[in-house]
Amino acid sequence: MTEFRHVVRNRRMTRAFAPEGLDPALIDEFVDLASRAPSAGKTQGWHALVLEGPEQVGRYWDITLPIEKRASFRWTQLLDAPVLMIVLADPDAYVERYGEPDKERTGLGAGTEAWPAPYWTIDASMAAMTILLAAEDEGLGALFFGLFQNESEVRQEFAVPDRLQIIGVIALGLPAASGEPKEQARSADRPRRSPGEIIRRGRWQPSA
Ligand SMILES: Cc1cc2nc3c(=O)[nH]c(=O)nc-3n(C[C@H](O)[C@H](O)[C@H](O)COP(=O)(O)O)c2cc1C
Repeated sequence: MTEFRHVVRNRRMTRAFAPEGLDPALIDEFVDLASRAPSAGKTQGWHALVLEGPEQVGRYWDITLPIEKRASFRWTQLLDAPVLMIVLADPDAYVERYGEPDKERTGLGAGTEAWPAPYWTIDASMAAMTILLAAEDEGLGALFFGLFQNESEVRQEFAVPDRLQIIGVIALGLPAASGEPKEQARSADRPRRSPGEIIRRGRWQPSA
């Protein structure tokens, strides 16, 4: 198996981390790799807001998982992850880029409503995937998770401008030695779809 196939097949979301910190240079390297992800019009309108160490990371959890809710939270060792990367997308950067002379004829410089697909979300997602694979390649654990609680408080605490979309958060760190190798979420029990179920050849048809 090639290294690429190995990394892709082995990547699983990690939800239990060891608290050891990560070298900030490693985060820079992951982001350098992610900066090579495809980007519409090479706009590269995404950002990584990195929270490092117990103080910064603790402030995130204090807002999104208040103390009184922690007893019933399933993934207690998720809070040990030494790094949280908030992935941000900048829709306006795409509107601006597609208003430039070489893209003007697309009409996409008119505003975000003109876009049939949100390329800012797509670009940031491709970059996030690269970070997940880079973490796997480095022997680290990673979890991409949503921000569902108190988004406006998170924005305020970490000074995230309203114009930036929060795509999600990536927890990064060494996997916990104590827990199961990679603790499974309930959704992990769902069977993976086979290529035969995913692919329609030649024309769309309902699944076989
Ligand atoms: C857009 C997106 C949002 C996700 N949000 C969460 C989340 O909030 N919490 C969580 O534990 N996992 C989250 N996941 C991880 C999925 O549950 C996980 O990828 C899926 O169960 C398949 O498992 P695997 O990635 O380990 O193969 C998210 C994944 C994606 C792509």
